[in-house]
Amino acid sequence: MIRLIRGFRDILPEHTGLWALVEGVARELLENFGFSEIRLPVLEHTELFARGIGADTDIVEKEMYTFTDRNGDLLTLRPEATAGVVRSYVEHGFCASAPVQKLYTMGPMFRRERPQRGRYRQFYQINAEVLGVQSPLADAQLLVLVHEFFSRLGVTDAAVHVNSLGCPNCRNPYKEELKSYLAAKSGRLCQNCLRRKETNPLRVLDCKSEQCAEAVAGAPSMTDWLCDACRDHFAAVLSAAESQGVALVLDPRLVRGLDYYTRTTFEVRTSALGAQNAVAGGGRYDGLVQLLGGPPRPGIGFAVGVDRLVEILAAQKGYPQKCPDVYFACLGDAAKKAGFSLAAGLARAGVAAEMDFDGAGLKGQMKRAGKSGARFVVILGEDELAGQKAQVRNLKTKEQTEQPMEGLVESLARRVKEEKDNG
Ligand code: HAM
Repeated sequence: MIRLIRGFRDILPEHTGLWALVEGVARELLENFGFSEIRLPVLEHTELFARGIGADTDIVEKEMYTFTDRNGDLLTLRPEATAGVVRSYVEHGFCASAPVQKLYTMGPMFRRERPQRGRYRQFYQINAEVLGVQSPLADAQLLVLVHEFFSRLGVTDAAVHVNSLGCPNCRNPYKEELKSYLAAKSGRLCQNCLRRKETNPLRVLDCKSEQCAEAVAGAPSMTDWLCDACRDHFAAVLSAAESQGVALVLDPRLVRGLDYYTRTTFEVRTSALGAQNAVAGGGRYDGLVQLLGGPPRPGIGFAVGVDRLVEILAAQKGYPQKCPDVYFACLGDAAKKAGFSLAAGLARAGVAAEMDFDGAGLKGQMKRAGKSGARFVVILGEDELAGQKAQVRNLKTKEQTEQPMEGLVESLARRVKEEKDNG
């Protein structure tokens, strides 16, 4: 048997209902907040991610699925969506023609991380990106949207952590300060951070190793180094988000794992997932459009980790069962034909109908009807066909009535609706 690749998963039918529910809530909310969908390829030139995400991040250093194409091009399966969204924005000339864009996209990402619960090599994100807006209200709007999304889904313990990483004007002097702090801690840093403390000291703050976390516990905070413009921006973001009831946790250690961030950064964390506690993350990336060959245009966005979110929801409430509204139990060829036609009529009328194509005995078919979770079972046999009547059984109340075949689709559709309206 050929098996799945390690870190890759099949999302099975009994689970996809919850995935669809999450995606549906996201889609509705994003559209209501003025976002439009964009669909992008999963394969891009490696250069896009190396430049966009940053050469000395974990993702680019060791987690990308990269290969040389037959024509010699170096290609990578996207490890995230933001760089691709920005590439598309630049490539299609939006920077000049319509610089303000609110875009969302959903789909698989690929990172060759060590697989564990909540961490996969193919995982799914819902991304929202706002391009061309400098106002702190854009940052706040995303925080409001994220907050609304999690509360609508009933995730109660999600905490939104925020920080500001400033702009190059204030971050560069901060980096120098951090470098001298880290130089004094050299003996306590992991091998990776010993190198990164020179090339990219902010990465050391994000290192997951315990010894590094201890070493940076007393490190200076970026928020103490913000220039006036960045401080004002951050204050405006916080006050606008809080005015909408979004509770925020100020977290000066939050630097995130990608290099493109400037100013506002945030992460949604829950206690439900053990080590993989981030269920969404994002922030501003005011330099990314330019870095990827466009004119200077600001950007901000976030991504929700759908695999993790689904796991949290499943642990809270289980996976929703998918049940037909009506199940047809038919005895004999003629009855099966009649059931076939009625089931198709119901499906066309928007009622979920299922029938037993091969089932022989009534007992077995009734058993399967019960197992399917259907509200009604329609029993059709020779007698029913002769009398042009069907037996309709409500599986909840066990009440069984005889109904004329004529108008059966309409009467069943009406009864299903009544049942649903009454819960
Ligand atoms: P990220 O923090 O790398 O940010 O990923 C966002 C979310 O994707 C994480 O919070 C997590 O829930 C999920 N995730 C990441 N890696 C895995 C994995 N291996 N397995 C399962 N879930 C995972 C970004 O990707 C940025 N592009 C977000 C962004 C959008 N920033 C601005 N715009």
